[in-house]
Amino acid sequence: MSTQHGTPHDSRRNRGLFRTKTVEQSIRDTEEPEHALKKSLSALDLTVFGVGVVIGTGIFVLTGKIAKEQAGPAVALSFVVAGVVCALAALCYAEFASTVPVAGSAYTFSYASLGELPAWIIGWDLILELALGCAVVAVGWSGYVRSLLDSAGLHLPAALSGTHEGRFGFDLLAFLLVLLLTAILVFGMKLSSRVTAVVVGIKVTVVLLVIVAGAFFINGANYTPFIPPSETGEASSGLGAPLSQLMFGLAPATFGTMGIFAAAAVVFFAFIGFDIVATAAEETRNPQRDVPRGILGSLAICTLLYVAVSIVVTGMQKYSKLSTDAPLADAFKDLGHPFFAGVISFGAAVGLTSVSMILLLGQSRVFFAMSRDGLLPRAFSRSHPRFGTPYRSTIALGAVVAVVAGFTSIDELAELVNIGTLFAFVVVAVGVILLRRSRPDLPRSFRTPLVPLVPVLSVAASVWLMLNLPAETWVRFAIWMVLGFVIYFLYGRSHSRLGLRNRQPAKE
Ligand code: ALA
Repeated sequence: MSTQHGTPHDSRRNRGLFRTKTVEQSIRDTEEPEHALKKSLSALDLTVFGVGVVIGTGIFVLTGKIAKEQAGPAVALSFVVAGVVCALAALCYAEFASTVPVAGSAYTFSYASLGELPAWIIGWDLILELALGCAVVAVGWSGYVRSLLDSAGLHLPAALSGTHEGRFGFDLLAFLLVLLLTAILVFGMKLSSRVTAVVVGIKVTVVLLVIVAGAFFINGANYTPFIPPSETGEASSGLGAPLSQLMFGLAPATFGTMGIFAAAAVVFFAFIGFDIVATAAEETRNPQRDVPRGILGSLAICTLLYVAVSIVVTGMQKYSKLSTDAPLADAFKDLGHPFFAGVISFGAAVGLTSVSMILLLGQSRVFFAMSRDGLLPRAFSRSHPRFGTPYRSTIALGAVVAVVAGFTSIDELAELVNIGTLFAFVVVAVGVILLRRSRPDLPRSFRTPLVPLVPVLSVAASVWLMLNLPAETWVRFAIWMVLGFVIYFLYGRSHSRLGLRNRQPAKE
C-alpha cells in the first residue's frame, strides 16, 4: 500500500538537500540479499546489549573524578539529571526505532523524516560518538588491566602503557583490544551477543557488590556538605568553562548548583549506549515490540544502579579523597579491603570489554547504512556471504579506532562524545514530531506519549546539557561537523542512491 502521492511539493523535496527516503524504501533496502543482515536478536538480547554498553567507564571511572572536581556527593543528583535527559530521549528513540526497523539508528530515522542532509549530519555525528566512545572505553579498560597486571607483578614498559601526564606512550592493550573485538564482530552477531551476556553478568554482579558491600561502610559525615559551595578556580576558566556560564556572564565556577549540571553533562557519558540498541533494530526478530522494551528496560536498570553506586561511594569516602582512576575499587582499598578492590577491578576490566565492543558494533552499522545509501562508498556495505555481517565497514573502522585508541588519552574525548550524542538526541526528537505530521499513517508499535510536549522537553533538556559542556568542546565539535559538510558536498550528494533514483524518471 503506497502512500506516495507525488505532489509538486513532494517532487521538489525529493530533488534537494532535504530529499527524504521513504520508510518503505528503507525497509526494502534491507531485503536486498547482498546487503542484508541476519535477524537473530530478541528483546532480552537487546536489553543485555543495552546494559552491556551502558555500564562502563562512566560509572567505573568518571564518578570519582566528577564527585571530586565538580559536584561532591551531589554527583548522585547529576546522574538523575542525566538520566532524565536520556529518558526523554529514549521515549523518542523508541517510537522511531519501532517505526523504522532498519540499521543505522538516528541516521536512518532522520533520513525518513528530516531529509538527506540532516541524515548525513546525524550519521557523521554518530560516527564521532561511537568511534571516539569506543576508543575512550578501550583506553579506560587498558588502565584497569594494567593495574591488575601490576598487582600480579607484570609491568608493561612505559612506552607501551599509554599517554600519562603529557608524556606520550602507545597504548598497546587498548589497540589490541579493539582489533580482537573487530574480529569477533566479523564472525557474527550471535557469537557477539553470547560473549556479551557473560560479560554483562560479571559486570552487573560487580556493580551490585559495590552497592551491597559498600553500604556497610557508609559514614554519614561524608555527605556533609552534600552540595559543596561554589568555587572559582583554574579548572573552570577560559574556554574550559561550560558554555552556559560564559553565555550568561557568570563567573566560571565548579561545585554549587551549576556544578551539578556541569557534572551531569560529563556523567552523561555513563548513559551513552542505550540509543545503540536502536541501531540493532534490523537484526531483531520482532523489532516493533522488542526494540522499545530493550531501550527503556536497559535505561531504567542503569539509572537505578548509578544513583545507588554514587550514593554508596561518596558515603564510603569523603568526595575530596576519591581516586580519579579507579574510584570504586580504591574506596575499598583505602578502607582496608583489598580483596573487594581486586574483584571490582577485575569486573571493571571485563565489563569495559563489552562496552567497547558494542560501541564498535553500533559504529560499523551506522557506517554500513550510510554506505548502503551511497553517501559513503558502496563497497563498504557488502555483507559477508557466510556470516551475514557488514565485515568491510567493521574491519575498516575497527582498524581506525584501534589506532585512535592506541594514540589518544581519554578526558577531552569523552566530552566530545557527549556533545555529539546530545546533538543526535535533538535531531531524533525533532524527527518524531515531523514524522507524525508527514506520515501519520505509519504503524507505530510504540508511540511517544504527549507529542509534541515530550519531544520538545527532550530537545530543551539535551540543549541545556550541551550548553553545560566546555566552550572548547563546542569548537572541536564544530570542526568535525564542517569536515562532514565538505565530504557530503564533494561525495555523498552526487553518489546518493536516493538522488540517483530520483533523477532516473526525469531522464525518461
Ligand atoms: N556508557 C558507556 C560508558 O560509561 C559508554 O562507558
